[in-house]
Amino acid sequence: MNYRIPYVMALAACSTPALAGTAQQEAFGSLPDGRQVEAVVLSNENGMRVRILAYGAIVQELEAPGRDGVVDVVLGYDGIEGYLEAPNYFGASVGRYANRIGGARFTLDGTTYQLATNDDPNSLHGGEKGFDKHLWHIADVSSGPDKASVTFTLVSPDGDEGYPGTLEVSATYTLTESNELAIDYQAITDAPTVINLTNHSYFNLAGASSGVSILDQVLTIPADSFTPVDEVLIPTGEFRPVEGTAFDFRSPTRIGDRIREGDDEQLRFGRGYDHNWVVSSAPVEGLQSLATMSDPGSGRTMEILSNQPGIQFYSGNFLDGTVTGKDGTIYRMGDALCLEPQIFPDTPNKPEFGSARLDPGETYHNRIIYRFAVSD
Ligand code: BGC
Repeated sequence: MNYRIPYVMALAACSTPALAGTAQQEAFGSLPDGRQVEAVVLSNENGMRVRILAYGAIVQELEAPGRDGVVDVVLGYDGIEGYLEAPNYFGASVGRYANRIGGARFTLDGTTYQLATNDDPNSLHGGEKGFDKHLWHIADVSSGPDKASVTFTLVSPDGDEGYPGTLEVSATYTLTESNELAIDYQAITDAPTVINLTNHSYFNLAGASSGVSILDQVLTIPADSFTPVDEVLIPTGEFRPVEGTAFDFRSPTRIGDRIREGDDEQLRFGRGYDHNWVVSSAPVEGLQSLATMSDPGSGRTMEILSNQPGIQFYSGNFLDGTVTGKDGTIYRMGDALCLEPQIFPDTPNKPEFGSARLDPGETYHNRIIYRFAVSD
């Protein structure tokens, strides 16, 4: 009698099709006002694991395979407190306008909109309380044979941080069995507005706590030009060829090779790299490769594809050792970099950069894919 129960259970287990991708919801602490912060963990059969928080739609953990096994490749905090005290945009979904708007103002259809100057004299990443500092709603969690996903939604009211139009935003994270993490940022508006949503993960492909500098990792950006900036990091409007400069990453290049070239004013303004590379002049139908990063030590590689025309490569220049992140690790310059698919910074004030405009009836969409692999 006793042995029959396990036998029947084993049969039942065999007849249930295996769910390769899993999506699991769990608690991740609470906000000072008492609201609970939930997280969703996506995993696949290759051992990849991604934890995304409903707070800021933040990628808190991203475990990816290498020759040394599976390690966490993004900076962040163990608990919600860190994200509240020193957010640094670690892993965050940023908006309404990722990157800078010069003078914290723009004009649309003859009306000038004043934004918060949270990066004096400019507006950075959506203002004082951008999308990275909101609790998003978990609208859908699903898993299936070849992928697992979660969708977060957020409503940003008309006038939020100075921007016009009520914006309905969604962020869908999908992890596939082919080791791709996709993020689909979508939005609609009820009045003309401007928009630029992206993800602000800080990557170190040797591992977020490895102590291996990103300066020893290798980057490729297939862009012939970049947008130089002034001393407050606002693009001048110029498209400058990368040829013959420290900004030429068209073939795989060690990140640290040219970052200290003191005669390059652009590297001084950015304290290193903090610039937008121009991969195409406008968003594309489908996807294009924007960057590939690799860590020679572990063989871990990550290619970033998107429909966006630009990519901000920020070499983590403002990480100064004042922040203690996951596993008690102090984060310092060189510990990680950001690669942010986007339209070009300050586009609302630069007609030569194209358009950041979103009208009622249109759907904004930034599709980003982080494709992980292991080289020999
Ligand atoms: C910007 C940096 C800024 C950082 C803040 C990046 O996207 O390019 O200038 O300091 O975000 O985390």
